[in-house]
Amino acid sequence: MTTTSKAADSPPRLEVSGLTVTFGGLTALDDVSFTVADGETVALIGPNGAGKTTVFNAVCGLVRARRGRVRVDGAPAPSAPTGLLGAGVSRTLQGLGLFDRLTVLENVLVPLTSTGGRARRVAGRRDPDDVGAARETLDGLGLADLAAVPAGTLPYPDRKRVALARALVTRPRLLLLDEPAGGLGAADIDRLAGTVRDVAGDGCSVLLVEHHVDFVTDVADRVVVLDFGHVIASGTPEQVRRDPAVEEAYLGVPAPPLVEPVETGSAGVSTSSTSDSPRVEPVETGSPRVEPVETKGTSGETA
Ligand SMILES: Nc1ncnc2c1ncn2[C@@H]1O[C@H](COP(=O)(O)OP(=O)(O)OP(=O)(O)O)[C@@H](O)[C@H]1O
Ligand SMILES: [Mg+2]
Repeated sequence: MTTTSKAADSPPRLEVSGLTVTFGGLTALDDVSFTVADGETVALIGPNGAGKTTVFNAVCGLVRARRGRVRVDGAPAPSAPTGLLGAGVSRTLQGLGLFDRLTVLENVLVPLTSTGGRARRVAGRRDPDDVGAARETLDGLGLADLAAVPAGTLPYPDRKRVALARALVTRPRLLLLDEPAGGLGAADIDRLAGTVRDVAGDGCSVLLVEHHVDFVTDVADRVVVLDFGHVIASGTPEQVRRDPAVEEAYLGVPAPPLVEPVETGSAGVSTSSTSDSPRVEPVETGSPRVEPVETKGTSGETA
C-alpha cells in the first residue's frame, strides 16, 4: 500500500527516467521510465533478457547509464556496495548469492559488518547491536532456529529466506527483489507474499522482478512490463494481464488477450499500443519468443 508520509511535491522513493544502458552493441535498456512511491510495491516483469536485472543493477550503481537517470529519494543512484546502506537501498540477487560455508546468522550479518563486502569479517568481532538486528530479522522470517546452521546445508526455500533476511536486516527504504518466488512452492510463495506486504506496510518501497503471475497479482500495486529493453505496458496487475501487447511479448506471436476480451478498453494503462483491440501484426523487434511466462527454471544462479 502506498503511504502518504511525504509531502505531495516530494520526489518518489525511486525515479527511473529515460534510462538507457548499452553493453557494447546491445541496447539492454532503451529510454525506460517509471517510479516507485513510498510504501508502493511495483513488479517489473518481462520475458527473459528483457532487461529487468539490468534495471536493478542500474539502480544499485553497478552499471552505468548511457542516458537518463536513476534517483532514490531525489538523490543520484547510490554505488554498490558501500553506498546502498546509506541510501536505504537493499536487494536480493537473481541467484541466492549466499556464503554457503558461513552460518545463517553470519550471512545475515554481512551487510551490517562488511562495508567493503569482505564476508570474512563477520567471523571476527561482532557488534552486539548488529547481532541483535540480525537475530530479530531471522526471527521475523521464522529462521531463528537455523541461525547456527551453515547456509549451504539448508533446503532451497530456507536459503531463499536467508537471502531475503540478508536484504531486510539493513531496514531498507527501497527493497529490490530479483525473482524472490523463483523455485518456491505454493506455501512458500504465500509466506513470501505476506512478508512483502508487511514490509510495504511499514513504508518500505518494493520493486520486484518476478515471473509468477499469481504472486505478482497478489502483492503488486502496479506492474511495469519490459520487452527488449522497452517499457511496453504499465498499470495495475489486472490491467496488464488484459493487455494484448503483454501477451504478444511473452509468446512472440499475435495473440488474443490473456483473459476475457477487454470490454472497457485500456483506459489508465500506458502501453506502446495505440489501439484497444488485440494486435494482429507480428512483433517487430527481435526473434520470436517461445518461452511461456512460467517456464523459467529455478536455477537462476547468476546474480
Ligand atoms: N554485463 C553484461 N554484459 C553484456 N550483456 C549483458 C550484461 N548484463 C546483461 N546483458 C544483456 O542484457 C540483456 C538484458 O539482460 P538482463 O539480465 O537485464 O535480463 P532479464 O530481464 O533480467 O532476464 P532474465 O529474466 O533471464 O533474468 C540480455 O540480452 C543480456 O544478455
Ligand atoms: Mg534477470
